[in-house]
Amino acid sequence: MSTPPLVVTHPLAQIHLTAMRQAETPSAVFRWHLQRLAEILFTVASRSLETESVTIRTPLAETQGEAFARPIVLVPILRAGLGLSEAILLLVPDATVAHIGIARCEETALPKPYYSKLPAILGISDVFVLDPMLATGGSACAAITQLKQAGASRLTFICVVSNPFGIEAMQSAHPDVPIITAAIDDGLNDLFYIVPGLGDAGDRCFGT
Ligand code: PRP
Ligand code: URA
Repeated sequence: MSTPPLVVTHPLAQIHLTAMRQAETPSAVFRWHLQRLAEILFTVASRSLETESVTIRTPLAETQGEAFARPIVLVPILRAGLGLSEAILLLVPDATVAHIGIARCEETALPKPYYSKLPAILGISDVFVLDPMLATGGSACAAITQLKQAGASRLTFICVVSNPFGIEAMQSAHPDVPIITAAIDDGLNDLFYIVPGLGDAGDRCFGT
């Protein structure tokens, strides 16, 4: 059984998303808003990460604090996922970053994996898969399949814009993976782009 996607409706998230959607927003500004939104989405996505009690010493006394119970692995799907992972890594600097490269075929939108560098600790880690766009769901599903084959079992998918088609694809292929998103848009156009969406996230991030 899958759980419904968690849509982050916090006004700050929506203000950053609005700036990203605007066609005239230049790459540097687009990236800045993407990074701020990444911080918010990850804060929500990590809300129920398990922690364990640790004994620490303040300048005055011994006391109890919290540490993450498991390692955290961030998995940006190249390229556009990098805009999310760079910001999130500042929040969890001890996280490991695993890169997965997937490009959509321009005609069919089918995912074409081209790169993968995964750590050995996936099986004992909390794994966050990062991609601004969930369109057909092909890229996210393929990335998560790779990660599961490599041992990952505690996975969360974080995206900026999703749509019902991609959500359905994810929920039928990977019902165990929660989806955190800032928006569920109307659907896809003939070229499999999200409408209204924000265009090609990689191109807008990197100015290509
Ligand atoms: C975009 C986006 C996702 C994918 C989403 O990447 O960043 O990875 O498309 O589409 P899907 O849900 O239909 O698979 P793209 O393949 O354009 O690569 P890029 O990030 O290198 O531009
Ligand atoms: N990839 C993007 O970057 N944007 C879309 O709308 C769909 C796929």
